[in-house]
Amino acid sequence: MDRLYDCWLAYGKDSSMKWAERYLSRLCVLSCGRVISSAAKELETAYERLTGNIPERISEPFSGGCFILRVNESFGDGGYSISVSDESVTVEGGDENGVLYGVFRFLILASGGYSPESLNITEKPCYHLRMIDQWDNADGTVERGYSGASIFYEKGCPVSDMNRLTDYARLLSSVGINAICINNVNVHKTETLFITEEFLPRIGKIADIFGDYGIKLYLSINFAAPMEIDGLTTADPLDERVINWWKNMAQTIYRHIPDFGGFLVKADSENRPGPHTYGRDHAEGANMLAAALMPFGGKVIWRCFVYNCHVDWRDRSTDRAKAAYDNFKPLDGKFGDNVYLQIKNGPMDFQIREAVSPLFGAMSHTNCLCELQITQEYTGQQIDLCYLVPMWKECLDFDTYHGGEGSFVKRNILGAAGVSNVGNDLCWTGDPLAGANLYGYGRLIFDPGLSAEQIAEEWVRAAVTSHNETADIICRMLLSSREIYESYTSPLGVGWMVTPHYHYGVDVDGYEYSPWGTYHYSDRDGMGVDRTKTTGTGYTAQYAPHNEEMYENASACPEELLLFFHHLPYTYMLKSGKTLIQHIYDSHFEGAERAEELLMRWRSLKDKLPEDIYREAEVRLEKQVLNSRQWRDVINTYYYRKSGIDDIRGRKIYK
Ligand code: GCU
Repeated sequence: MDRLYDCWLAYGKDSSMKWAERYLSRLCVLSCGRVISSAAKELETAYERLTGNIPERISEPFSGGCFILRVNESFGDGGYSISVSDESVTVEGGDENGVLYGVFRFLILASGGYSPESLNITEKPCYHLRMIDQWDNADGTVERGYSGASIFYEKGCPVSDMNRLTDYARLLSSVGINAICINNVNVHKTETLFITEEFLPRIGKIADIFGDYGIKLYLSINFAAPMEIDGLTTADPLDERVINWWKNMAQTIYRHIPDFGGFLVKADSENRPGPHTYGRDHAEGANMLAAALMPFGGKVIWRCFVYNCHVDWRDRSTDRAKAAYDNFKPLDGKFGDNVYLQIKNGPMDFQIREAVSPLFGAMSHTNCLCELQITQEYTGQQIDLCYLVPMWKECLDFDTYHGGEGSFVKRNILGAAGVSNVGNDLCWTGDPLAGANLYGYGRLIFDPGLSAEQIAEEWVRAAVTSHNETADIICRMLLSSREIYESYTSPLGVGWMVTPHYHYGVDVDGYEYSPWGTYHYSDRDGMGVDRTKTTGTGYTAQYAPHNEEMYENASACPEELLLFFHHLPYTYMLKSGKTLIQHIYDSHFEGAERAEELLMRWRSLKDKLPEDIYREAEVRLEKQVLNSRQWRDVINTYYYRKSGIDDIRGRKIYK
């Protein structure tokens, strides 16, 4: 096997085999089921990789050293306990998934060099829905994918060699993922047919693979499917023919996939069809589908990423950030019990810095999920280093104040969905260091209380090196990376300024006069979007009063979001005592310098790292240096030309 391919399941190529000999040579499986079988198989794989031997299966615990697996319902769904004694390791799971999670936890940590004695762990997932969304298309492309082609499809069909999907299921379940939607939210012609007899047998095989690892399969559907598949004249969710069509469709799906999870729906957004065409609202659309799935226990996951992508930039009163709340808040309490609203962390679109969506906490009578983007669309595209866990934590820890102080986002949701960063590159995530984001997403939504540091350390030790000093340097690189990326890209939360459509690299005005609703409004005096109630778009009023006040006043507004909420003069004085323009110059000079330091630090580890991991990351860090310089120079020149204000430190700005 290959270190790049194995990710964090490499099983101790540089760790001691002692613990493996002691505990893994005998395996005692006291409960049965398909997921437990996968757990036992994983232990066999690990033992074989570490020692070259196969463990002996025993039917009763053995005092001379063994690994015991069993279900013990008291630990709850997905919960588990690992108990380590001199003689044995016992993993008890509240259900089969819990057993699997406990096994992976032990293997990942022990092979990362944590001593087995320190692994007496009891854990329970915070949420019952821990999902991954693939944006994979049947033609083998991946929307916003930066790691090669799809591992699910090629040439219009699901792949026939399923080995890679099995390994993907292992990776995902090893961090507690229990749901996956296997096709892009933008459902094109071929994928529309995935719910039909033509494709269901093959989709069913994929469902089986993930089912063995406790992961339920979902499909993104096309709201206009009744028209496209069977030529109905309408997709109106209140029309009897449409209602029956979906009911029949649900029956067909469950005949092929008895444990099918349900539908993910992007409707009435970015030119996708939806209930609005028929004068119906999102609740009417979602509930119709939910009723069809209800008898089988399926769920409808309905995305709140709904906005008008045909706005007129000349009209400064419209604000894309307001769209999700405006669309969904009036519908709170109207959604069926098996409908979940999937809300992006921010109100715009996965920028490196944006406010937390005001929908969180505002939908107190509705099931909500948080949508995070693991794939680095706007955050460096798996070229520039950007460990995203600190950013996700900010969102989950945000106090919405909707039920008084302490109404954190993490308490307002029932789970999360993360847009996958995986493709068919040998190392799955393009940049091997981007593996930390996939691992980190799973860990964080299993337990949002974990720190970004702990997650980074676990990942580095299992996936890269368990050598203390080297692991420490890599952790520090990861932990500073978001701040570095932010500092050389768009300033103070204003967002965008990227190359249109492609979204990597700088183009300050690329979207400024477009219909996409993503503007920075820079003029000769200042910049930023006035989203206040008093003089701006009124977006601040979508927050609970405490937060509304904070954002409404520039002096109270967290400075990293200043230009997200306010249009300010370049001479505006920040708390640091710097003017806004000086902050822009400073952060861009520093950001590019720090990007170079990342490369230097990585190079200093050359002899201490597996060669392929080193090389793959090095080429990317080199590109990052160039990207950061381009951002620095374009942004600094742009704002110098707009403002005519010099850098007080007299550094090189191209005039
Ligand atoms: C972003 C992304 C699109 C994607 C959309 C979505 O806008 O650029 O590719 O389809 O988000 O989340 O639906």
